[in-house]
Amino acid sequence: MKSVEYPSVREMNDDQRIGIVKDIFASVTDKYDFLNRVLSGRRDVAWRKRTVFEMNFFKTNRFLDVATGTGDLALDCANNYPNVNVTGVDFVQEMVNKGIEKVGFQNLNDRVELKWGDATQIDFDDNSFDVTAIAFGIRNIPDKVKALTEMKRIIVDNGQLMVLELTTPEPGFWRNTYSFYLNGVLPKLAKWFTKNPAAYEYLADSIMNFPTRKEFLSLMESVGLKNCKSIPLTFGICTLYIGKKRIRDKKLNGERK
Ligand SMILES: C[S@@+](CC[C@H](N)C(=O)[O-])C[C@H]1O[C@@H](n2cnc3c(N)ncnc32)[C@H](O)[C@@H]1O
Repeated sequence: MKSVEYPSVREMNDDQRIGIVKDIFASVTDKYDFLNRVLSGRRDVAWRKRTVFEMNFFKTNRFLDVATGTGDLALDCANNYPNVNVTGVDFVQEMVNKGIEKVGFQNLNDRVELKWGDATQIDFDDNSFDVTAIAFGIRNIPDKVKALTEMKRIIVDNGQLMVLELTTPEPGFWRNTYSFYLNGVLPKLAKWFTKNPAAYEYLADSIMNFPTRKEFLSLMESVGLKNCKSIPLTFGICTLYIGKKRIRDKKLNGERK
């Protein structure tokens, strides 16, 4: 079997990175859910559950899951909110296909639609969802501002934009332990289970190179989101970020407020 190697995240240009991300997810699709559960000790399930718990539907009763992968967050949302219609988009068709199978198994075809779509060019009208989220996807997108701006565009005023992402704990014991797990243990574990263990070296690299919590909150504010907050989960190895779309300036008596 030919082994794959990827350059370090810092050495890739944006197009290379997008190509590598597509290659990785197309090659790990079959084992993706299984590896998520094993390598995170099922924490990924709890982190998505927390994300769904924080959602607030109040106008359109629609949720858009960006970079939906095999649809786990989309399905969790649909199972928790029986009145909500869910759409999930991802730019790797193999992942979407797997997700569509899962939607069918759970008999949710009437409320959950998964399809091909790019986070940096979302094919929906402005103000059409109450909530949008991206789980473990933003790390893989070089132009994060573009993706966040698109996500903000499609939610209603006061709608929520959520980002769930793997992060690094504050410097100290947990950070050192986590770094050892990511760089030493995880790629070896992945070798037993996947045809593409380099995907898990990329995973470690991309997590270590992700912006700090403070930097990411500033990025969210820079696209015009308000009330931005971060919720560290499991010693900070994952973080849930939540921001709201600013209410549009209203014209009162012909004057701008
Ligand atoms: C780690 S998986 C996360 C999948 C899923 N959200 C979950 O919770 O398991 C990352 C996903 O992001 C997708 N992705 C990365 N960049 C994307 C983009 N620009 N547009 C759409 N999907 C993207 C990949 O194809 C992959 O399925």
